[in-house]
Amino acid sequence: MSVPVIRTPLPGPKAKALIDRDSTVVSPSYTRGYPLVIERGSGCMVEDVDGNVFLDCAAGIAVNSTGHAHPDVVKAIVEQSARFLHMSGTDFYYEPQVRLAEELAAVTPIAGGVRSFFGNSGTEAVEACLKLSRYASGRQNIIAFLGGFHGRSMGSLSLTASKAIQRRGFGPLMPGVYHAPFPDCYRCPLGLTTTDCAAECLDFIDHQIFAHLVSPDEVAAIVIEPIQGEGGYVVAPDQFLQRLRALTKEHGILLVADEVQSGMGRSGKMFAIEFSGVEPDMMALAKGIASGLPLGVAVARAGLMAWPPGAHASTFGGNPVSCAAALATIKLLKETLVANAADVGAHMMAGLKSLSDAHPLIGDVRGRGLMIGVELVRNRQTKERATTERDAVVNAAFRRGLLVLGAGKNAVRFSPPLVLTKAQADTAVTIFAEALAEVEGSRR
Ligand SMILES: Cc1ncc(COP(=O)(O)O)c(C=O)c1O
Repeated sequence: MSVPVIRTPLPGPKAKALIDRDSTVVSPSYTRGYPLVIERGSGCMVEDVDGNVFLDCAAGIAVNSTGHAHPDVVKAIVEQSARFLHMSGTDFYYEPQVRLAEELAAVTPIAGGVRSFFGNSGTEAVEACLKLSRYASGRQNIIAFLGGFHGRSMGSLSLTASKAIQRRGFGPLMPGVYHAPFPDCYRCPLGLTTTDCAAECLDFIDHQIFAHLVSPDEVAAIVIEPIQGEGGYVVAPDQFLQRLRALTKEHGILLVADEVQSGMGRSGKMFAIEFSGVEPDMMALAKGIASGLPLGVAVARAGLMAWPPGAHASTFGGNPVSCAAALATIKLLKETLVANAADVGAHMMAGLKSLSDAHPLIGDVRGRGLMIGVELVRNRQTKERATTERDAVVNAAFRRGLLVLGAGKNAVRFSPPLVLTKAQADTAVTIFAEALAEVEGSRR
């Protein structure tokens, strides 16, 4: 079937009825950018309850890595479900959890052996990294980055510095957290360009935070997203990550890579930090790891993950069905999908960049693999953020049958399933251009 096919006004009657029911009984804290009510999905195709078919470049917030209902993943889930659904891997043993830990040890860019702690979500993976950082270092303080998103439970929320609404009303948060500027080269805090920058914004940590706020020998860990996700798909330059690694080594600080969004092949490598050649001490993984089943993993150097029985655990963490889905997912990623993300991602990036001349709203197109952000601005010189226009573009794309999400204040993110084809990427770019034109037309 050629996608998209829009048959009704959106939302259609069945979608509207469900949204009305939702509005009285479901937490109003969820952010719904547009009224999509899904009935089923396959690959990059999503059908809603009224029979409208969409091209999915959102993937349930970068989760459906192998596409909707990949047959290999579904088969693994069905087979494991028929054997047993749960036995709590924190109290008992089962093979899928051990096999997944072995597989993660083989694919994570940390030499010398790693161990895995299993939870159910990104925030739990980050919490485990936080607790382990403090436990292993005997230090309390943590440095994270402005614009970063690490989750919404109290520990991870203390690191999250994405949108103030996410923190508003929930304080006091965890003490001992300091935030440094993230190296956003499009909006360089020091006014440099990528060609003359040697990652000077790292100096803020060295010359400001360490000089004025906290002694480096009291910092347990620095937590960074190699590509900020919710912050707007902003890529940290390789040299920044390399200098960050050198700085952390100099002071005995652990380096934690939060690859919840950038990991599992999305960047065109299994993990985005691999572009820099940097080896972190720990990684937080979730989202795409199990193609949609809940799973979060904290992976750490084996020597670091030396906490005793009872120190940390989770009833559901590492659920056998999620582990089976993750094993099938990683197999597909290794066989074809990481390479497809690199190949189709480069194609899509070129397509989106080519829209710049005709569409003045486009300020910047960036990303890696199938993790692409398009930042919209009202004026290319002043870079005034086009937030309302961004929301309008996302909605205009939806009405044309393309699912994308906003990220940061004014970026549109493309985070499709990694099975996206070049033809589908072209369709997405064409629809995106139409959505831009609609919003640009209405601004004139
Ligand atoms: C980089 C990063 N870390 C952590 C999280 C939290 O993950 P979850 O929503 O599964 O708790 C997210 C979610 O968007 C994320 O993008």
